[in-house]
Amino acid sequence: MTHTITLIPGDGIGQEVIPAAHNVLAALNLPLAFQTADAGFGTFERVGSALPGETLAACAASDAILFGATSSPMHKVEGYRSPILMLRRHFDLYANLRPAVGVSPGGSRVDLLVVRENTEGLYSGRERVEDGGTTAIAERVITAQASARIVRTACEWALKRRRKLTIVHKANVLKETCGLFRQMAFLVAADYADLTVEEMLVDTAAMRLAMEPERFDVIVTTNLFGDILSDLAAGLTGGLGSAPSANVGDRRPGVFEPVHGSAPDIAGQGKADPRAAILSAAMLFDDLGYAAEARAMRAACFATQHVHNTADTTAQVIDRLRHSLPTARG
Ligand code: IPM
Ligand code: MN
Repeated sequence: MTHTITLIPGDGIGQEVIPAAHNVLAALNLPLAFQTADAGFGTFERVGSALPGETLAACAASDAILFGATSSPMHKVEGYRSPILMLRRHFDLYANLRPAVGVSPGGSRVDLLVVRENTEGLYSGRERVEDGGTTAIAERVITAQASARIVRTACEWALKRRRKLTIVHKANVLKETCGLFRQMAFLVAADYADLTVEEMLVDTAAMRLAMEPERFDVIVTTNLFGDILSDLAAGLTGGLGSAPSANVGDRRPGVFEPVHGSAPDIAGQGKADPRAAILSAAMLFDDLGYAAEARAMRAACFATQHVHNTADTTAQVIDRLRHSLPTARG
């Protein structure tokens, strides 16, 4: 069966790393069909929408989406909404899986997975100003249903890994929102007798990630905490150049994207690290059932150093795949 993959390069270095990942995927000679679609700030400036209807239609008609990065302005731009946030909502991709693998600056072997809730929390979109602009309010929405399903996802991953789950929250201060998340987390985790389950306040989690990252296996947390801790975990294992992610739900298509942003400072120079995009494509392959290829892509990326040249790094990864995968010998 042919799988259709929608490529959305987006803005900045997305335009470099997604074609690189596409080259890797295409080199594997698998029954894949690719289509490219527009999204991002450049698209918004051109056509007035950051995620045009044709792009959404292309996504809906595909099995998986490989997404680069988009630039989001720091201030409010009338009519602009971040396309990745829209895609997560639109396809109900409630789980954001962010693995971090590598050796930390302190020399410990890190192999952890941040399972970030991806649809609510402080990303509710419910922000407003009051009192003539002197007070700004964001509503943090936590539901029992979304908390339960993200923790269930995390428990399932922990079963396949080292069977340890860390529930991260700040229920000592956010008594209602984090309180509900924590309550649901323990309720769901109680179904998993084979797991070692612990809880940790988010500030403590940040410190212990920095000091003893090897102690973590699966971390499950709410949206913004997961956003921040996954960057920290990426920073511990070589930085954003090699940090992939998967946005998945109960149905396809999922959206697979490097954790890094559009990096306007280095865009257009051919020096972006393509490994995060290639590793994201490997997560996409896992989702489509190409487990052996996904494993080979990870091995090829981990064996390849990035020395400031997108094309060179990509060529090295493809070369390694030609040695490890029969289908890539063409
Ligand atoms: C990420 C990014 C996004 C997020 C931004 C670009 C909206 O930082 O995927 O981690 O905050 O989720
Ligand atoms: Mn982020």
